[in-house]
Amino acid sequence: MKLKTMTMEWTGDELILIDQRKIPLVEEYVSCKSYKEVAVAIKDMVVRGAPAIGASAAFGYVLGAREMFVEDFNAFVKKVEEVKEVLANTRPTAVNLFWALNRMEDSLKKYGKTEGVLEYLEEEAMNIAKEDIEVNKAIGRYGAELLKDGDTVLTHCNAGALATVDYGTALGVIRAAVEQGKKIKVFADETRPYLQGARLTAWELMKDGIDVTLISDNMSGWSMKLGKINAVIVGADRVAANGDVANKIGTYMVAVLAKRHGIPFYVAAPTSTIDLNTKTGKDIPIEERKHTEVTHCGGRQIAPDEVKVFNPAFDVTDAELVTAIITEKGVVYPPYEENLKKLFEE
Ligand code: MRU
Repeated sequence: MKLKTMTMEWTGDELILIDQRKIPLVEEYVSCKSYKEVAVAIKDMVVRGAPAIGASAAFGYVLGAREMFVEDFNAFVKKVEEVKEVLANTRPTAVNLFWALNRMEDSLKKYGKTEGVLEYLEEEAMNIAKEDIEVNKAIGRYGAELLKDGDTVLTHCNAGALATVDYGTALGVIRAAVEQGKKIKVFADETRPYLQGARLTAWELMKDGIDVTLISDNMSGWSMKLGKINAVIVGADRVAANGDVANKIGTYMVAVLAKRHGIPFYVAAPTSTIDLNTKTGKDIPIEERKHTEVTHCGGRQIAPDEVKVFNPAFDVTDAELVTAIITEKGVVYPPYEENLKKLFEE
């Protein structure tokens, strides 16, 4: 079984990831031949973005299951729990990681025997990856209806092809609108400290010939005030049952600014990012990353030695600031508590 996109390639024996730490200066690839290598690649952000993390973890689970294989089914299930644990202990905020690992584990338990189980698990990981592309295209179709010809969309971080198996969520909406023939321009926040906007969003949109203008994060308010922005679309790492949205640090600031300027603030996210078991944003674990992400820029120190640093990788945007959540099942409007639940009932 094989799959190849810009973000990842599954050869049947290894997971090859484009090294997102190095884009746009070099296009290099990291090959993961064991589940531990996949875990390191997720933790070190070779691969990042909620759906891409989930799909990578599913392939990591397949590699781990092969490494752990024993004939006795119960002993095998027990050994694979260790694989799940290692992969789950990489990044805490994006729920797609846990969603994908739980789906793999549930499939394993349902299959119930060791004969043919490795092929079965590989097929399930492939399903997760292929479904992600279809889901993003559906998000794109629904979301594109919200954009008018001539709109300029502000986005934060990278919720594009690189953050998913392919096509993207927030950038998927933009891609779909462009495919419909609408002229859409994008303003990309650089997204300090890790610069996913400057490095990844600008790179992938330019590669696709989509009109993108890079701004530093502190320019978004002024850009809105000047009337340059018609809509904001971002991705999500986890949407709580009440509609609170965890996404890349700085998203909350953009949402507050959008409210102030009467600009719609849309979140594009697959249902695998919606976590009804997490009641509100307060219950979402927020990852804190190393201080050098803030004290350094492009490998160069920009702050005094030993300065104190706070580096949360994500923030939570209150549901009341979110105009709508664009999913593969349709566009969800408030009240979110009620309407998100309906998505899972149908
Ligand atoms: O730390 P990252 O780069 O993994 O954070 C990514 C984001 O916050 C994305 O906006 C989110 O995962 C949605 S990706 C479709």
